[in-house]
Amino acid sequence: MPQIAAPKGTRDILPDEFATRRWLLDAHSAVAESFGYRGIETPVIESTELFSRGVGTDTDIVEKQMFTFDDRGGRSLTLRPEGTAGALRAVLGAHLDQEIRPVRAHYAGPFFRAERPQAGRQHQFTQVGIECIGEGSPALDAEIIEVAWRFFQALGIDGIHLQVNSLGSAADRARYRAALVAYYTPLEASLCDDCRRRLHTNPLRLLDCKRDAALVADAPILWESLDTPSREHFTSVLRDLEAAGIDAVRNDRLVRGLDYYSDTVFEFWHDVLQGAQSSLGGGGRYDGLAELLGFPPTPATGYALGVERILMVARALGTVPPVPTAADVLVCSVEPGQAEAAGGVARLIRDAEIRTVLDVAERRLDRKLRGATRIGARVAVIIGENEVKDDGAVVRDLDGHNQETVPISELATTIIRILVTDSDASDSVATDSVGEDS
Ligand code: HAM
Repeated sequence: MPQIAAPKGTRDILPDEFATRRWLLDAHSAVAESFGYRGIETPVIESTELFSRGVGTDTDIVEKQMFTFDDRGGRSLTLRPEGTAGALRAVLGAHLDQEIRPVRAHYAGPFFRAERPQAGRQHQFTQVGIECIGEGSPALDAEIIEVAWRFFQALGIDGIHLQVNSLGSAADRARYRAALVAYYTPLEASLCDDCRRRLHTNPLRLLDCKRDAALVADAPILWESLDTPSREHFTSVLRDLEAAGIDAVRNDRLVRGLDYYSDTVFEFWHDVLQGAQSSLGGGGRYDGLAELLGFPPTPATGYALGVERILMVARALGTVPPVPTAADVLVCSVEPGQAEAAGGVARLIRDAEIRTVLDVAERRLDRKLRGATRIGARVAVIIGENEVKDDGAVVRDLDGHNQETVPISELATTIIRILVTDSDASDSVATDSVGEDS
């Protein structure tokens, strides 16, 4: 029978990568929590309407990229393509904003988009993100950018290009849309198929076109359509970023691929990533989203970052820490008769918070010791007939290949001494022996 493989666009996370991802995920939680953000988790499946109303029916995500299916009761469900709509639904649905404003939340988890898989683009991918819900202050737009900035610093990632823009208010965007339509309509015949459609459905997306780049270059500038309050909001964000020592590049063409944004939008780019996948993440203010989801108007701002893309950059820059070994100690019995005693010894060592693997298989001792090196253990504890009788254990330093017999009462301190200093371990003289060929 043919072997079953993981579905297209998905990947298995095996132990080495799992450890590296944990480094990243822990760093994100720690940085977000240092700013007072608290962890949340929302469902991976949501009602399809959350995204059609929230992200927008004319966006690529809703039009082409959602994994949507009917449940057994005929309700349309979607594997979440993004986390903002769900986080906002969760926070406002539980009235958290009535206790504290703003509500600061962070999250991490799997997301799903049916895009053509390639490096940095998968059907299932992972995002870390934060949402700051309940206040419209520009200071909070700067705050969330600073959280991301510090997170990249915590990972040792330099060379981030922060791109920022303002989409203004709904009225500003209506004015800008009209300006875009006026500019593009005489050119309609020369537009690509996508852009001809966008001209009528979502003119802001015309700025994303790679094929008609020359036309984009001459298109009207969004800033010209912004009224004074929108300009002041953005100017204040830029000032706060400068005060935080964060370099921001103003990018008039940055509109983002989701419809819920207003005022500040931003993306983090890195040169290690090329082409359409150059964005490590992005976000912005989404003051209109709550109403689209049926909640009272509630200003909010947030970001999401792609974990797989960040790891690609961290690997390329060499900032990923070494992967920890599986265990520090291997406890093994010489013969099956000592299995129970070996199990008790392993328990004792773990009580001292030392990572310990137990091997009581019917296998030659030299094989067990070879296995100890393979899992990265630095110490082997060997329990043979004599050790059971005398309530002791043979402790072998696998780096120095020295070993000594110690009473069980001294076992943990002996192991810690070896683990803490290799040089100390080399002082211990191999005087004891156990039958290795049982
Ligand atoms: P987004 O720009 O659609 O924003 O996604 C954020 C990041 O998720 C991207 O920059 C990328 O790193 C990663 N990503 C997206 N699609 C894929 C994919 N198919 N494969 C691998 N990585 C991918 C959002 O999702 C908004 N919810 C951000 C936000 C939060 N805005 C306000 N709050």
